[in-house]
Amino acid sequence: MTEASPWRRLHGRRHGKKLKPGRRRLVETLLPRLRVPLDAAGDPAALFASPPADLWLEIGFGGGEHLAAQARLRPDVGFIGCEPFLNGVSRLLAEIEADSRLANIRLFDDDARRLLDVLPDACLGRVFLLFPDPWPKARHAKRRFINPDNLTQLAGVMADRAELRMASDHMGLIAWSLEQVARHPDFTWTARRPADWRCRPADAVETRYEAKALENGDGCVYLAWARNPRAAPIDGEPGELSA
Ligand SMILES: C[S@@+](CC[C@H](N)C(=O)[O-])C[C@H]1O[C@@H](n2cnc3c(N)ncnc32)[C@H](O)[C@@H]1O
Repeated sequence: MTEASPWRRLHGRRHGKKLKPGRRRLVETLLPRLRVPLDAAGDPAALFASPPADLWLEIGFGGGEHLAAQARLRPDVGFIGCEPFLNGVSRLLAEIEADSRLANIRLFDDDARRLLDVLPDACLGRVFLLFPDPWPKARHAKRRFINPDNLTQLAGVMADRAELRMASDHMGLIAWSLEQVARHPDFTWTARRPADWRCRPADAVETRYEAKALENGDGCVYLAWARNPRAAPIDGEPGELSA
C-alpha cells in the first residue's frame, strides 16, 4: 500500500501491549527470516526449503493458533500467514521457534491486500479468513474484507476449485458475505446441508475469537466457497497456441 492508495488504509491495530523481551527478540531475529518480501512473492514456492505440494494463505491469523495447527497437519503444504498486529505475529513466532514441525510457515506482517497484489495468478489452493473484523456499523461496512474488490483479487490468485473458508459469529457479517460472494461470478458456496455451515470443518481448530464467541454462547457459522474453474480459452483466442 502506498500514499497513492489511501482508500486502502488498514483499519485496525498494529501494536498492542509492549512486547516482552523474548518476543521482541523473535520479532528482530526470526521474523526477518520468515517474512515474505513483496519483491519475492512472485515466486512463492521458492520461499520454502523444498517446493510445497500446494500453497495456502491465512488472512488475519490473530495469534496463529489455527495456522500452526494447519501447518502441523499438512507438512507438505506451504503456508503464508498475513497479520499486521505485531503482538499476534510475535505469539506465532514463539510457537514456530518451539516446534520444528512449523518450518512450512512464512509470514507477511502487513495488510494482506498488499500481498494479493503481487502473488501470481492461480497460485493458492486454499484461503482462510477466520473471524475477520465484523465492522458492525453500516457506515463501516466497506471495510469488511469480503467485498467486491477483494473477492476479485482473491479470485485472481486462487487456483480453479481452490477453497475460500470464512467463519464468524457476527450474523450481519455472515449475511453480508453470503450476499457479496453470491453476486461475484467466480465463487460458488459449497454447503450441501446445514451441518456444513453449522459445524467447524473437521480439519480446523478453534481460533481465539471463536473460543471467545462460543464462551459467550454466541453461535458461529462456517462458510466455504469454491473458486469456479476458469473458462477454457476458445480456439484462436489470445493465449491459445496455434498449430
Ligand atoms: C477479529 S481478529 C480474528 C483473529 C483470528 N483469525 C481469530 O479468529 O482469532 C481479525 C484479525 O484480522 C487482522 N486483519 C484485519 N485486516 C487485515 C488485513 N487487511 N490483512 C491482514 N490481516 C488483517 C486483524 O489484525 C486481526 O488480528
